[in-house]
Amino acid sequence: MGPHISLVSFLLVLFVFSSTSWATLVDNHEEFIRCLSNCNQTSSVYTPNNSSYSSILQFSIQNLRFNTTKTPKPLVIVTPTSESEVQQVIICAKKTGMHIRVRGGGHDYEGLSYVTEVPFVIIDLIEHRAINVNVNDKSAWVEAGATNGELYYRIAEKSKTLGFPAGVCPTVGVGGHFSGGGYGLMLRKYGIAADNIVDARLIDANGRILDRVSMGEDLFWAIRGGGGNSFGLVLSWKIKLVDVPEKVTVFTLDKTLEQNATKLVHKWQYVGSRFHEDLFIRILISRLNSSSQGGNNNQTIIASFNSMFLGEIDRLLPIMQENFPELGLRREECIEMSWIESTLYFAGFSRGESLDVLLNRTQLSSRYFKAKSDYVYQPIPEGGLEGIWRLFFEDEAASAQMILSPYGGRMNEIASSSIPFPHRAGNLYKIQHLVYWDEEGEEVAEKHISWIRRLYSYMTPFVSMFPRAAYINYRDLDIGVNNIKGYTSYLQAKVWGTKYFKNNFNRLVFVKTKVDPSNFFRNKQSIPSIHLLPLYNYLVEDKGE
Ligand code: FDA
Repeated sequence: MGPHISLVSFLLVLFVFSSTSWATLVDNHEEFIRCLSNCNQTSSVYTPNNSSYSSILQFSIQNLRFNTTKTPKPLVIVTPTSESEVQQVIICAKKTGMHIRVRGGGHDYEGLSYVTEVPFVIIDLIEHRAINVNVNDKSAWVEAGATNGELYYRIAEKSKTLGFPAGVCPTVGVGGHFSGGGYGLMLRKYGIAADNIVDARLIDANGRILDRVSMGEDLFWAIRGGGGNSFGLVLSWKIKLVDVPEKVTVFTLDKTLEQNATKLVHKWQYVGSRFHEDLFIRILISRLNSSSQGGNNNQTIIASFNSMFLGEIDRLLPIMQENFPELGLRREECIEMSWIESTLYFAGFSRGESLDVLLNRTQLSSRYFKAKSDYVYQPIPEGGLEGIWRLFFEDEAASAQMILSPYGGRMNEIASSSIPFPHRAGNLYKIQHLVYWDEEGEEVAEKHISWIRRLYSYMTPFVSMFPRAAYINYRDLDIGVNNIKGYTSYLQAKVWGTKYFKNNFNRLVFVKTKVDPSNFFRNKQSIPSIHLLPLYNYLVEDKGE
């Protein structure tokens, strides 16, 4: 064989050998349970014969779409408490060939932490959630089963002037959330959660416990935004806390079409990413149904300008007057509160509610939903916005929502390859498209899902292209999946991978191949490992001749 390797043969080899070994699609759960008991494993183990099985399974399901009688269920759920217990579970799963899913807070939009078509075990980290805050060096160790709410609560217990730039919803788990990035209302000042991770403890596919030093910088890079369940099981994160003022200011101003919503949304696109980095104004768009207007038949769109300012009202008002006078913000519409109180405000709790609600892991309400995401580089013209409103007047959009979150500030300063999360300079804002419904049934689901697909298709000319970027924490299987039963080709995964990670996708594949070549941690959108050995042999053979 000659030494020359053409691009075509290289790609052919890549295509053939970039594969997932799905050899382990077997039900070995009895052997798995025996393995756990042989090593004196004390974590709770639930099978469908156990009376608590259903409640443990359902407790963390956040999307009712994956809580139906047809949803595939795990053969076993394990809830380890300590690192050594988690380690033992991984070792037994590997030994017996059981497929695993790791669950943190269970908020995965497509249910990937607790649903798959092959026989599987859930490792539910709900009992592994200690938080240790150190105010002296402004850091914290957070076990991966904790939620954002628990983290915020524990920080506030120790300090009024420290916070953390993670997500808005308190029930979201830090296991999946930080693994996929994790943004909240302070992203314009401090970036996202994953930008503020300084160390981690992880169990790899061989059952070894690693920290930042022992895992090395490539793997440490990959787990900060490369998505959960690809590189290992994160046991805990060490995070850098950020300074927050003693008082922040919040406001929510609702504007209907009759109150100039279209022009205000249009203008916001020019200023939202350019404000002072202390100011974050997002817009929540939905339809105001006739029933909420006192029974008349008028329907309108409501654009809710929802904001947090890291400072007091006196400093906010001149900034608003100078940059966005059209919104007409008045002093009496602003509320000053502590940062921790603001986490309750944005989670929808009323003023004066006890901070203890942050420790509650149950969402205020769970519904059926489907979501998608987009990134916007150029303002959408008013006519384009009006087309969106028309879609919102369709029947299926009664409970639809669009959330526009501004970028800019610190997000412009962080390099797009700094961590796998690539969405930085150039983005004006991110859109989350959502549609909710309340009745079970495939037909109802199909109707709503096809509505959001129509909206997504309508948005094509207005949003990022080549790739049409998406946020992995708003997981969307419509943009591409790995082949669950057969082989996962690199080229197949690249379709969705470049949307989530842009140019960082190849480095993620490289890390995955190095740390988990047998693809032990996998799901429909996990990073594929490329089996390089045949390629290596091919190259070496060539050189030897
Ligand atoms: P879940 O347990 O479902 O895990 C998600 C993925 O990570 C799965 O693939 C899972 O296997 C894996 N995983 C979990 N723990 C792991 C671990 N320890 N090690 C390795 N892999 C692990 N996002 C955002 O950025 N800002 C926001 O404000 C919000 N708000 C929000 C509100 C609501 C109501 C929902 C449903 C979702 C959000 N999100 C969000 C999206 C959220 O960040 C995303 O769904 C996270 O992945 C959820 O993490 P969980 O641990 O809760 O989910």
